Amino acid sequence: MSPDVVIFVCTTCKREGDAPEAPRAGAALAEAATATPGPFRVQPVKCLSSCKRGPAAAIVRPGGWSYVFGQLDIESAPEALQQGAALLGGSVDGLMPWQGRPDVLKRNMVARIPPFDFTPPEATP
Ligand code: FES
Repeated sequence: MSPDVVIFVCTTCKREGDAPEAPRAGAALAEAATATPGPFRVQPVKCLSSCKRGPAAAIVRPGGWSYVFGQLDIESAPEALQQGAALLGGSVDGLMPWQGRPDVLKRNMVARIPPFDFTPPEATP
């Protein structure tokens, strides 16, 4: 398992339909994720450019794919993000396995981004 996996949680997200002056749902999610037990670091961040699908979070691993998730709920997402981080950290190919992934991380994926040094399999000699 890669200890370098980091969970980024947007603190500035609003939930669709929230009043402009309402407390930020993203801040509550970041607080809940930080308080959730787990081996992976939670790093609050301002905006992941998934604002229309907030609250949003990303799971990032050096040498692996990065995943952005949206429309996360405060009740189940913090634990699911730790589970997703464990799956990503333990993968051999740098991809988060579909099997065993919490449902919220299946349904609410916004984007996946290849690692910096990504080379398509057909391009390798
Ligand atoms: S404000 Fe949360 S992704 Fe932009």
